[in-house]
Amino acid sequence: MEGKKVSESAVHDQTTVVFPNDLNAYGTLFGGRVLDLCDRLAGVVAKRHSGRMCVTLGIDSVRFLAPAKHGDILVLKASVNRVWNSSMEIGIKVFKEDFRTQEKVHILSAYFTFVALDDDMNPTKIPPLIPETEDEKRRYKAAEERHRLRLRK
Ligand SMILES: CC(C)(COP(=O)(O)OP(=O)(O)OC[C@H]1O[C@@H](n2cnc3c(N)ncnc32)[C@H](O)[C@@H]1OP(=O)(O)O)[C@@H](O)C(=O)NCCC(=O)NCCS
Repeated sequence: MEGKKVSESAVHDQTTVVFPNDLNAYGTLFGGRVLDLCDRLAGVVAKRHSGRMCVTLGIDSVRFLAPAKHGDILVLKASVNRVWNSSMEIGIKVFKEDFRTQEKVHILSAYFTFVALDDDMNPTKIPPLIPETEDEKRRYKAAEERHRLRLRK
């Protein structure tokens, strides 16, 4: 099976705006809302890479690093870090952006594990990943250790 480059499925700047119905009881962005956005985006990246239906197997290392508020611009970035046989790790970062200065603050990081399915809903083989940049190679290497820990757990 031919490999695919990380850049063929990566998303670098999906944007949205925090509206009032995205907030928690304290007036900041609700964590469940931003995870919903991340899960959908990671699913798109997984489908683009595999060319298959994909389901979320797990989410880990979720870190809410800073709050966002009503009116903030959110910028979501997602890419495949590594693939195994039918499973793949997608790394996600979310930033809030000040529209006046375009300064970005990192507000969330997480890893999503997706499994590609065939038409009978059974796990199926996906194309190998070709990391090209230094960052892509670093993430590729680091993902293997996380994968081992997940399987051990
Ligand atoms: C995802 C699902 C199809 C996997 O089924 P399964 O019978 O466990 O399949 P397998 O045992 O063959 O495992 C499939 C892959 O998951 C990997 N996997 C299993 N447990 C894992 C874990 N804890 N962490 C990381 N990977 C794991 C396996 O290593 C395998 O990967 P590989 O093919 O790359 O080696 C099944 O668990 C499922 O349907 N879950 C519900 C998904 C869902 O509804 N998600 C929410 C909505 S999208």
